[in-house]
Amino acid sequence: MNKMGSLLLLCSCLMASLHFIEAEVDINLATVNQIHKNLNKTASPCSNFWNFACGGFESASEYVDNFEWVEDQFASAMVELMESHVGENDNQAPRLIEQMRSYYKACTEDTRKLNYAHPLEEFIEWSEDLDNSIKHGLNGLVFDERIGVADNDSMRQVIQIKMPDPSARFSSLRVLQLLHLNESIHKNKTIELVRKLQEVQDRYREENPVVYTRTYSEFRQQTSIISSTIRHLCSQLLGAPCTTEEFDQFIFEISDVNYLLESLNFVHNFDDDAKSLYIRLYHYVFLKDSEPRERNPKTCIHHMRAILPLGMNYMYDRFVYQNRQQDTLQLKEILANLKATFGKYLDANRLQLTTHQLAYVRAKLEGIQLKVGNLPEEKSPEFYDTHYESANFTKSNFYSNLIQALALRTRLQHAGLLNPQSRLDLQRYYVNDNVRKARTSPFYENERNTITVPMEFLQWPLFDHRQHIIFQQSLLGAVLAHEMNHAFEQDGILFDAAGNESPVGFEIRESPAFRIAIRCAEEKAYVSLKERLADLNGLQLAYDAFFGLDHDSRKFEYRPYAFEPEFTAPQLFHLSYAQFFCGSLPPVIAHDRDDERVNVSVGNLRQFAYDFKCEASQLSHCEMWRPNVHT
Ligand SMILES: *[C@@H]1O[C@H](CO)[C@@H](O)[C@H](O)[C@H]1NC(C)=O
Ligand SMILES: *[C@@H]1O[C@H](CO)[C@@H](O)[C@H](O)[C@H]1NC(C)=O
Ligand SMILES: *[C@@H]1O[C@H](CO)[C@@H](O)[C@H](O)[C@H]1NC(C)=O
Ligand SMILES: *[C@@H]1O[C@H](CO)[C@@H](O)[C@H](O)[C@H]1NC(C)=O
Ligand SMILES: *[C@@H]1O[C@H](CO)[C@@H](O)[C@H](O)[C@H]1NC(C)=O
Ligand SMILES: *[C@@H]1O[C@H](CO)[C@@H](O)[C@H](O)[C@H]1NC(C)=O
Ligand SMILES: [Zn+2]
Repeated sequence: MNKMGSLLLLCSCLMASLHFIEAEVDINLATVNQIHKNLNKTASPCSNFWNFACGGFESASEYVDNFEWVEDQFASAMVELMESHVGENDNQAPRLIEQMRSYYKACTEDTRKLNYAHPLEEFIEWSEDLDNSIKHGLNGLVFDERIGVADNDSMRQVIQIKMPDPSARFSSLRVLQLLHLNESIHKNKTIELVRKLQEVQDRYREENPVVYTRTYSEFRQQTSIISSTIRHLCSQLLGAPCTTEEFDQFIFEISDVNYLLESLNFVHNFDDDAKSLYIRLYHYVFLKDSEPRERNPKTCIHHMRAILPLGMNYMYDRFVYQNRQQDTLQLKEILANLKATFGKYLDANRLQLTTHQLAYVRAKLEGIQLKVGNLPEEKSPEFYDTHYESANFTKSNFYSNLIQALALRTRLQHAGLLNPQSRLDLQRYYVNDNVRKARTSPFYENERNTITVPMEFLQWPLFDHRQHIIFQQSLLGAVLAHEMNHAFEQDGILFDAAGNESPVGFEIRESPAFRIAIRCAEEKAYVSLKERLADLNGLQLAYDAFFGLDHDSRKFEYRPYAFEPEFTAPQLFHLSYAQFFCGSLPPVIAHDRDDERVNVSVGNLRQFAYDFKCEASQLSHCEMWRPNVHT
């Protein structure tokens, strides 16, 4: 721990006793110190801003990035809580707390490991239950099944069936590797099965497959292989034959129909022993992927954060999190400020939207909700205390618990189908779809028109309610602005204020001005266009919300803040913004690499060059919603 020096100390104290540190250390000084530590002053801010702002991070920090840092603080606090007696005789959710402690105890103390050559008994039982693999949480064997909401009604839950995601390919490869280790007489047949499934997937994979919407009653009467699969699935998921009228109103959304027909037929007629071996191996790979790579107190906390989010967030919120009220107030203010600024953008109407389209975008903007922590609105203690009651966690058997937790997660995901009309219960809604890693960064959900800020994120050095507003608006503010802009990029714009897909959104997306704006962002190579758009528009929005529209640092003299002798306010803003991206550079999947993201974002903020007195660049800036410059 002491490798990190005084700042880490500061940071663990922050959690242990907030009021103590408040008197001792100025949070703003601590924040600028942190920013200065990460600088690489041999780099030029104009030619590679990420390197200037973050180049020193790797040698100054023992963490991969600031995310790992706040996740580690979260884990430390939770380890302490799990190993204490806090909440043992709780009068609100004693059962939930006990279940969580049991899971934690088995995770940290049961030293047995899953080994395919000598499988544990519970694994054998579980993996021999072929008929119930989806109920067990095992997805992606032949098709992917998940619960979503209908396109035209974001409150109506539907069952979505499609071809497995390309990422499922890794599991198949692992299955093949295992097969080569095992001299089973079914080996060759099983390899054939795996290969054939991959081949059929490759043959039918489409970018935007047609989706067929059918009710369960329609499937009940048909005799195709898809119908019989769906009939089987229904009873598997709900534990009883789905024969009453109640089930008939379930809605299925089926994609990749030709793939499903061919693969289901093929698998149906395939050698049973090979199928069993395949499913067993797939189960094994799935469990291996779901468990922590190495089990110790902190990795167990991270694992539980992903797989038992409600229990973890509930306990953190009640026993660890100190600042819900202040944080919520400030986050709401930041969001209100961003919304007001975006409202001014809409007044200028750069995209030349019609009155009707503008009203659509304004309603959507107005409707964006903010949630602090991935927890339901529901307050009743009974809800929390009984939420996991159908799972039997023991204090001594980790794999039995893991198997229970996977099935529990699947049950909870499907439970809403049994609500009247399969309506979503918003009061009890929370995100429960992580297996390997819980979200730490804020995220936006189109269907809910909501930004959720995980409690993990609301920790220094990323955020502290006592920080000067410049730090909050440049870092968390820019992140919220990024998330907000997901509501207005080429996919997000399709959803209206209530999260339903709308023809008006489609109209806006197809309008010439919108398409030109997108083409600009596409000019530089990207990993994901929507992320690129959210990055560019997000920084512009956060900057304008803080400095005002058309701010020009060449025209003003800036006196630095008392806590920052060196950098001007706009410079400090950019440096603080970059802290979100500081870290060693690992390969990034869904976003561009962090250095790329920072550089492209600041490069497209026309004021950035003025703020750092860079030579005026000839490059044009990609702006989408931001009003044209007034000269
Ligand atoms: C960002 O960094 C890349 C090299 O990694 C460089 O080519 C680019 O010019 C930089 N852009 C800015 C605005 O710093
Ligand atoms: C700092 O920037 C210089 C100049 O770009 C570069 O050569 C050096 O590797 C950077 N140092 C670190 C620690 O990234
Ligand atoms: C190979 O798989 C079979 C199950 O099909 C199992 O009984 C056997 O122990 C495995 N052998 C090895 C070496 O993994
Ligand atoms: C949604 O679309 C389905 C057909 O896909 C239709 O049956 C249903 O009435 C629509 N619901 C609403 C609320 O428009
Ligand atoms: C499996 O295939 C290999 C060749 O790929 C062959 O040598 C072997 O005999 C086959 N094993 C069985 C059990 O059929
Ligand atoms: C949990 O255990 C109880 C009692 O042993 C049993 O009745 C119940 O079915 C079990 N639940 C699950 C999900 O296994
Ligand atoms: Zn994003």
